Amino acid sequence: METVFSGIQPSGGFHIGNWLGAVQNWVKLQDDYRCIFCIVDLHALTQHYEPAEMSERVITLTSELLACGIDPARSILFVQSHVPEHTELAWILATVTPHGDLSRMTQFKDKSERAPDNINAGLLTYPVLMAADILLYKATRVPVGDDQVQHLELAREITRKFNARFGETFPEPQPLFTKATRILGLDGKTKMSKSVGNSLLIADPPEVIRKKIGNAFTDPTRVRKVDPGHPESCYVCGLQGYFASPEETARLHEGCRSATAGCVDSKRALAENMINALAPLREKAAEWKAHPDKIRQVLGDGAQTARVIAADTMARVRERLGLLAP
Ligand code: TYM
Repeated sequence: METVFSGIQPSGGFHIGNWLGAVQNWVKLQDDYRCIFCIVDLHALTQHYEPAEMSERVITLTSELLACGIDPARSILFVQSHVPEHTELAWILATVTPHGDLSRMTQFKDKSERAPDNINAGLLTYPVLMAADILLYKATRVPVGDDQVQHLELAREITRKFNARFGETFPEPQPLFTKATRILGLDGKTKMSKSVGNSLLIADPPEVIRKKIGNAFTDPTRVRKVDPGHPESCYVCGLQGYFASPEETARLHEGCRSATAGCVDSKRALAENMINALAPLREKAAEWKAHPDKIRQVLGDGAQTARVIAADTMARVRERLGLLAP
């Protein structure tokens, strides 16, 4: 069985971009692959955060992943900082990573621009830690949204460099995409992202969803209700396909095109469909959150299994590097 590895940051807001772009796919992959899913808390340290909130964020995100259908009986679900080999391998991989490649990463530039007071070295070496996450488990498939493609390309490059220098050790990881590789934020302009503040969270209650969708971006060429709309270029119509049946989506789009329905009608339908789709996730997540001991048990078991694989890989890596055994 091939190994799938993917990660998600506990950045305090699991949004529909994460869900549609990544986690829905993770859930399906569990049927066909050995899956390893990681809550990458060490990656999250590269951006401003409140230490007092971090452990709670990890617990909340775990409850949400479990609610979405990540199944600890079939997959390994764990927290990055619970397996110290991640940072050990990251250091080693940094020694074969070209500095120039790191400074050219789009996310490094974007994050540096957004937080000029916090351009730390961790932000620069972020993709090296990502490569370590993947290679530690010799994963061959990595499900991600398109924002991570460049990082994955670099992970492949790092793999080639390591194998060329020290001998064939790691397989080259390949990306796996969903049809929703890039969900835009509610502004309809940039990628949905917690740090940009344009996201709709899985945990948002119905009244918040109605309000957020009510303010979402629609077809700018449609000024009055009687103007025919262009569902293919409308953000709200685009999202409908993920939350309504194909028949209902076609009907809503036709209403927009023929101007028999206005943007407000479109938004109302989307908000109600979203509320219905997200309600079971919110409920299941709340059930898990009511039992933090069970969440800790899942993460403890996951880390234990992950550590066995990680230790085995690192023993081989140390040997390849020619390090003196202790
Ligand atoms: P993160 O936490 O930003 O996002 C988790 C996953 O969600 C996807 N995603 C999106 N997909 C579509 N539209 C969006 N608006 C959207 N926003 C986020 C991301 O592509 C990702 O798949 N660096 C990674 C975490 C990571 C990782 C790894 C991933 C660490 N190590 C190793 C794969 C393999 C990140 O920050 O994801």
